[in-house]
Amino acid sequence: MRQKIILGNWKMNGSRALLASLLPPLLRESFGSARVGVCPPVAYLGQVAAIIEGSSLELGAQNVNEHDKGAYTGETSVSMLKELGCRYVLVGHSERRQYFGETDAIVAEKFAIIRRSGLIPVLCIGETQEERDQDQTDQVVFRQIDAVQAHIGSDAFANAIIAYEPVWAIGTGKTATPAQAQDVHQLIRRHIAETAAGDAESLPLLYGGSMKAANAAELLAMADIDGGLVGGASLDSREFIDICRAAA
Ligand code: PGA
Repeated sequence: MRQKIILGNWKMNGSRALLASLLPPLLRESFGSARVGVCPPVAYLGQVAAIIEGSSLELGAQNVNEHDKGAYTGETSVSMLKELGCRYVLVGHSERRQYFGETDAIVAEKFAIIRRSGLIPVLCIGETQEERDQDQTDQVVFRQIDAVQAHIGSDAFANAIIAYEPVWAIGTGKTATPAQAQDVHQLIRRHIAETAAGDAESLPLLYGGSMKAANAAELLAMADIDGGLVGGASLDSREFIDICRAAA
């Protein structure tokens, strides 16, 4: 039985006021065996770490640079994220691929440095509407997975998480149906079983794309959906708590 994991991806949202309104209610809850984490903007990682210290709430970052350190103005390194208390780092989010030119090769480099540092990479993959319409969903997600394995080796996903996030479902209110999501999750797990070393059965596969309190339980009930990467709904404490309860 895989543990459920819910991660809130705040994207470029938040303020001190949001930390003060969102985190205390979350800290008062407990979600059984489910793991729950938040990925605030890097500017608030330190403050969030201080607020959640000693609790079971976990911390993640939304991005990291692929280099150790050096003259990379504006960037953040894995060692900084570790010092701040992060456990997870999102990598390859479709917004990074789309707006910041992150190619499969850059994503693979970032994945590698995250993994080497001992942090847990959360590899985000998923097809656009156009790719789905052309029946290319499996090719696209396999290509995104294979790029990481080609760079790191067949044990790349040994201590990692994959988040399947169909681009057409992100921030659109248009969620994949549980059956659509389950189909792709099952394909991904099979592909990992066929191509990777290690145990595909224990790899956590999260779903992301307009997950909310109203649809979380049915998505999380699917056999290969082990949790959620939640964007918009993670900014509302009631919604986010209800999603985490559905995972508990
Ligand atoms: P959304 O975003 O829940 O707002 O669709 C999910 C994500 O981009 O991780």
